[in-house]
Parts: sequence; C-alpha cells; structure tokens
Amino acid sequence: MALKYGIHHGDCVDLLPQVEPGSVRLAFADPPFNLGRGYDDNFDDRRPDGEYLAWLREWISLTVPTLADDGSFWLAINEKYAAEIKIACTDQGLHLRSWIIWHYTFGQNMRKQFAKSNTHILYFTKHARSFVFNDLQIRVPSSRQLYGDRRAHPDGKVPDSTWGEFPRVCGTYAEKQAWHDNQMPEQLLHRIIRVASDAGDLVLDPFSGSATTSVAAARLGRRYLSFDLSDEYCTLGQQRIEEAIADPENTILATGKWGPFHSEAAKWLFRETGASARELLEKPNALACFTRLLNFRCGGASYTTEDIAGILPAIESCGLPGNTTRPRAAAATGRGRRPATAETR
Ligand SMILES: C[S@@+](CC[C@H](N)C(=O)[O-])C[C@H]1O[C@@H](n2cnc3c(N)ncnc32)[C@H](O)[C@@H]1O
Repeated sequence: MALKYGIHHGDCVDLLPQVEPGSVRLAFADPPFNLGRGYDDNFDDRRPDGEYLAWLREWISLTVPTLADDGSFWLAINEKYAAEIKIACTDQGLHLRSWIIWHYTFGQNMRKQFAKSNTHILYFTKHARSFVFNDLQIRVPSSRQLYGDRRAHPDGKVPDSTWGEFPRVCGTYAEKQAWHDNQMPEQLLHRIIRVASDAGDLVLDPFSGSATTSVAAARLGRRYLSFDLSDEYCTLGQQRIEEAIADPENTILATGKWGPFHSEAAKWLFRETGASARELLEKPNALACFTRLLNFRCGGASYTTEDIAGILPAIESCGLPGNTTRPRAAAATGRGRRPATAETR
C-alpha cells in the first residue's frame, strides 16, 4: 500500500518508490551535505564526491514522480554541490524558478577564506507555467509603501531571493531541538509551505531530521510525509509535531485574539518587513498592507489597523522572534545531543 502520511523510519531510497505517484504538492529536501557530520550512526556523511553526487541524483530521480503536475521541489544544498545539483534536477525535467540564498551569520573564524554564511535553496517546479504560488501568503510591505510612494502595490511585494530574515537555530533558541544537530528554522519552512501548497496538500520531506518541515506543515494545516534513517529522530520528531499542534491556537486554525500562532505570525511579518514600528505607524498605506497581509497569514483573521497599531510597539520592544531564548540548562541537555562539528548551519 502507498505511504500517505506521517514520519517513517527508513532509507528514502527505499521509501520514495512507495509514495503514490503525483500525490505530493510540495517536496522539500535538506539532505546531509557530505561534511562528515554525526547525525546518527546509520550512514557515512563523508563520501567521495562522485559517490555523493550519484546518491543525490538517485533519490532526486525517485522524488520527481511523487510530485503532482503542478507541484514543486525545493532543495537545500551547500555551495560545493549546488551547481551540479541544479543540472541534476533540470536533467529530470524540473524547471528552476528561483535560486534562493538563505543568508545567516555565524561566528566562524576563517583565516584563508570567507566565512560560510549561506545555504542555497533551489526552487523547481514540475511544470514550466502551471504551479502553485500563493504570493499573498508571503508578501511583505514594500519600501515604496514605507517611503509613501503612491505607486506602491497595495499588497506590498514578494520577498527577494536572498533570505536574511531567518537566523540559524542556535542552541539557546526556544525552538531548538537539542537532540538534532542541524535544524532548519521553522519560519523558513512556513514561507515555503505557504507559497507552494494549499491547506490539505501533502508535503514530503525525504530527510526529516528534527521534523521541522512536518511541524510547519502540520501547523499550517497540510498533511506531511517524512523519512529518516534514524528511528530515534522519527520518534522524537513525531513527539515534536504532536506538541506543536496540541493547542489549535498554535496552528492556522487559531481563532483567539493574539493567541500564539497570530502573535508569532505578527512578529515574523514585522521582522520580514524590516521597518521600525514608527515607520509603519506613520504610513497609513504601509500599516493597511501589513494588516491585510497578516490577516492572510492567519487564515483569514479580521484584525484592524487599530489592532495592529496597538501591538507594533510591543512586538518591537520584546525583541525579534528568532532571538527568543530559553534557559541555557534546558538548551544544553537533551537526548542525542551531538558535539559541534566543523561546519554547521
Ligand atoms: C540535514 S538533516 C535534516 C534536518 C531537517 N531539515 C531539520 O530541520 O531538522 C538530514 C537528515 O537526513 C537523515 N538521512 C540521511 N540519509 C538518509 C536517507 N538515506 N534516508 C532518510 N534519511 C536520511 C539524517 O539522519 C538527518 O537527520
């Protein structure tokens, strides 16, 4: 029987052929980067380049048939392999729509090269012209609105292809899962899932890790299907999902005023806008745009500009959401915690 839902323990090369062809609206993959990292003891993460690239090609070729005709494939990869992988994907008939640079800062001390500060996210669609792109779910108020240009689009703009809004998940962040060493920020996945799928769609991640993709999908009302070689990651990932959606107010179904999902969405839209509260409050069109976009992100909420004006100063003063910290002791303990390796995200 075809795999339809949930986190499954196993090798994606074995499991992908069991996914119903054409059933996946969005596949996101964040494979090991062949950097010699210690995820679990189940695989060798330092292979000769040719062998690693052949493996990437293999599971990509198994992922493409799972995609719906208007589906998309998003792949996170480092600079070393990005060029080859772009060609591997177009060889499979995929169409490149955006080459996204996820930029983050990281305190590495480099002596003879520039510090690594990005991951490439390649965004492909199965069809060249017919695909899901829910721009209203990810738009942000534009600079034109912030300086009061009458030509500004009332719904702001689609973000640039360099994403600097999502910091790496540090050990002290509230969302950090101490048992996994290489976790993506959940809000980065929110952007991808919002724009490239609709409520109820199936979202596939062949490399579940700490289950970030599935958590984001579940919180946004999508179905999820993920795989990982580590049984422990699958179990802990499933627990993470259940905790994330136990309270409906923590999901897209939230209805209460300024419950956790709405507050987070407001904080992130503020961060993505990159303006001060004062700049937004002084420009009625920008404030109206912010309000409209937040209501879209909150699944059709009905906040007014007065509601937003009332919370912006608090959002600004309580700090940016990525910096939400938890006590150090809690961050440092946790099953499966791995020592830091040479290159991390
Ligand atoms: C970079 S991590 C994914 C991190 C994830 N995006 C997150 O936010 O937590 C890669 C994961 O792929 C898993 N993995 C490696 N090879 C695999 C394979 N052949 N099939 C399934 N999972 C695999 C590893 O155990 C690891 O948890």
